Amino acid sequence: MSRLTAFPIEDYRAHQVEIDRAVGEVLRGGWYVLGGEVAAFEEEFAAFVGAKQAVGVANGTDAIELVLRALEIGVGDRVVVPSHTAVASASAVIRVGAEPVFVDVDGVTKTICPERLEELLGSEMGRGVKAVLAVHIYGHPCEMEALEAVCGRHGVTLLEDCAQSHGAVYRGRNAGSMARAAAFSFYPTKNLGAVGDGGAITTSDEALAERIKVLRQYGWVGRYVSDFEGINSRLDELQAAILRVKLRTLPERLAKRRMLAGVYEEMLAGVDVVERPEVRADCVHGWHLYVVRSAEREALMAHLSGLGIPVAVHYPVPIHLQPGYVKYAERSPALPVTEALSREVLSLPMHPYLDEAGLAEVVAGVRSFEEGRAAK
Ligand SMILES: Cc1ncc(COP(=O)(O)O)c(C=O)c1O
Repeated sequence: MSRLTAFPIEDYRAHQVEIDRAVGEVLRGGWYVLGGEVAAFEEEFAAFVGAKQAVGVANGTDAIELVLRALEIGVGDRVVVPSHTAVASASAVIRVGAEPVFVDVDGVTKTICPERLEELLGSEMGRGVKAVLAVHIYGHPCEMEALEAVCGRHGVTLLEDCAQSHGAVYRGRNAGSMARAAAFSFYPTKNLGAVGDGGAITTSDEALAERIKVLRQYGWVGRYVSDFEGINSRLDELQAAILRVKLRTLPERLAKRRMLAGVYEEMLAGVDVVERPEVRADCVHGWHLYVVRSAEREALMAHLSGLGIPVAVHYPVPIHLQPGYVKYAERSPALPVTEALSREVLSLPMHPYLDEAGLAEVVAGVRSFEEGRAAK
């Protein structure tokens, strides 16, 4: 087998004994949705993040939707999101009836550019904006203090999308603890992954957490009585039990990701065909993805794929240029950095079950592309 193994199955194998035991206990226990495992996971995950509360939900998209609903953001409101992110960041906004407004990102952090946000909120396009969704893309934290200052000046709520940033830290503050509320995904490939869908909201606003708990289950305040228009977005006991097992060892896997990023950094030094990702000095990167930039992305990707190296592009088409979402681009500013990134980014293999030999295989592939090009 190649050293570049698939990640979710390795994650299961590494925890197999404990996961099988936990799953067996849930099955025999007979309570399958929103029970003791979910409550325990919520407590443990809140502690990991450093927030007062965590609320388990069905997936990361719902987590964003539920935060917006709980803040009563909906029809007639607008929410600023980057376009350089998973489409879910914007689709959750649309699902509550609000409109996404796209803002450009910084070329280094690839996260919302505070200056562009300031311009946007101060312009006609900023009218009706109620919230800004700061996406810590790839695991690099957003420039939260600058975003907080801009949002504060414009009376807009700052939220975090932490689907890719479990374990990331900005100036000593953990991703998921820095805004009014944060949305996490536990999709199997995430830094903390379930064996199906899962998500959570973290917040230190207790009243908001209580409201989200009501909204995730039909708006029920008592059994079969809905005081609010809720949805069904519950985390099930099996996923929670598995997440609890994996959460215990998450710090080790995050450390492994950081170690591997350091290995890439060293091995790729002097390889001019790719620009390595930079980490701001005051940040700990979550290394969900290891993303390089290359002006020759398409040819390099074809070369690596030909060698059997599993590379990917996150994301080839920014949301504002996707057919299903292009109509929202009209009322957004120009996004030149976002569009350049979509042409140049390339995700090299990154997960905690890789080793240095696997990375050496990837880097040799990049080098052989560079050498082949130089020989032409
Ligand atoms: C940045 C970002 N936001 C939101 C989501 C949505 O999470 P989920 O797939 O669990 O709904 C994802 C997942 O891919 C993501 O990467």
